Amino acid sequence: MKLYSNPASPFARKARIILHELDVKCEIVNVNARDDEDLRKVNPLKKIPALVLDDGSVLFDSRVICEYLNHVGNGRFFPGMNIFSFHTGRWKALTLQALADGVMDAAVACRYEQVQPVEKQNLDFINRYRLTISAGLDAMERIKFTETPTIGEIASGCALGYLDFRYADIPWRALHPKLAAWYEAFSQFPSMQSTVPHT
Ligand code: BEZ
Repeated sequence: MKLYSNPASPFARKARIILHELDVKCEIVNVNARDDEDLRKVNPLKKIPALVLDDGSVLFDSRVICEYLNHVGNGRFFPGMNIFSFHTGRWKALTLQALADGVMDAAVACRYEQVQPVEKQNLDFINRYRLTISAGLDAMERIKFTETPTIGEIASGCALGYLDFRYADIPWRALHPKLAAWYEAFSQFPSMQSTVPHT
């Protein structure tokens, strides 16, 4: 298997954490998705992560890849169906993943906007992205994170790690003390430590 990734991408980091946790062997190919037209031959959307299987088939996006890797590695990051209990089951994990992915979406899009020359930046977009990040963090502050991490906790860790990486100006810990305490412990996992985002 080959994972198209980038050390700065919080979405690719989700997949790399699962690879590490489940000790699944996979070649990592680092690409710059914005500039690399060849990536379109792998993923027509020109996005990372993309996972090429040994038979040549390709999986994307991060949600599909993470569930596939969890399956291959016999992981327990995707709880089974439980229609009676939202708070202990699959739907809570998937909804938390969607929330954290939404924060990452806004943070990455805002980052792309902010690295443009000032005259090209759209302040309205930037404000809207920042509002989404802030509302997402408020919602995460209200979450009861599970002791045994699910894909929801992994995605949350990646979202917060990306904010630390690209948004030193957002004082999210001071505004979200419960989330900060949870992240302090979660970020100590070796799989988190070995995938800290960098350029
Ligand atoms: C970044 O440089 O912030 C970045 C790189 C790849 C994917 C997402 C974000």
